[in-house]
Amino acid sequence: MKNEIRVFAPASVSNIACGFDVMGFAIDEPGDEIVLRISERPGVTITKITGENGRLPLEAELNTAGAPLLSMIDKLHITCGIEMEIHKKMPLGSGLGSSAASAVGAAFALNELLDLGLSKEELLPFAIEGEKIASGSVHADNVAPCLYGGFVLIRGYNPIIDVVEIEVPENLYCTVIHPQIEISTKEARKILPKTIPLSDAITQWGNTAGLVAGLLKKDFGLIGRSLQDVVIEPVRSMLIPGFDEIKKAAMDSGALGCSISGSGPSVFALSSSLQTAVETGKSMKTALERFGLSGEVYVSKINKNGPRIIELK
Ligand code: HSE
Repeated sequence: MKNEIRVFAPASVSNIACGFDVMGFAIDEPGDEIVLRISERPGVTITKITGENGRLPLEAELNTAGAPLLSMIDKLHITCGIEMEIHKKMPLGSGLGSSAASAVGAAFALNELLDLGLSKEELLPFAIEGEKIASGSVHADNVAPCLYGGFVLIRGYNPIIDVVEIEVPENLYCTVIHPQIEISTKEARKILPKTIPLSDAITQWGNTAGLVAGLLKKDFGLIGRSLQDVVIEPVRSMLIPGFDEIKKAAMDSGALGCSISGSGPSVFALSSSLQTAVETGKSMKTALERFGLSGEVYVSKINKNGPRIIELK
């Protein structure tokens, strides 16, 4: 029987311009690390959280990584106690699925440590328990890509979450810039319109379908034309200094498309080569710096693996 596990769970880009709450993909970095140990003390004890300046709660039921564990212990009748360390390797409120990474990391780690044999489909509802705490709503567009890896479509949420894995072209690259400001997902959801004009809905669902078709057909032109968001981006981009200039810089560098990552402030672009993705990152950074903000840039392919074990002993 193993006693301790350390896992990595990746950041993710959700919405992907046109697919608010229904699409996301995982990226290689950044990501969170979770350590679990079997303990004699019943329940879940969070012993350490690093990388977030003491802002996350140590009470398991209030913590995005603690809630999934409590739910698993309860529903699966697990009798041993669990100690957890959470190492945040990405900023809170970044639009990179930070809370989802912690929730997925915890659920994945417990499954592996106790050899529970749960499938990804079975782990998903537990991980979503954590996301609910963080954003006040049930959306799986960070949790599902983080857990499954790759590009994921959430076709619907009722009666169960219907996750569809979409194959992506091999040479599809993502550039993400994270401006050094924070946006709360809860707040960024409150400012969204409750209803939208039918004409906007038509544009949006045409693009959503177009993006999925473009990925499956490996048609970069179609992918690029579909990376448009007429519903969410016009509202939320106002929260990101220099958004229009960052987007223009990405498009001028040859990116296929560019929009807000999740609820922001991170901005992502997709490109059809590594060279374009790297150049795009440099241009986005220069554009952001003109607005007096620095930004961390990440370039990777779509991460096909999801969470992984770093150490099991
Ligand atoms: N789809 C979510 C949103 C992702 O944009 O609010 C952020 O968690």
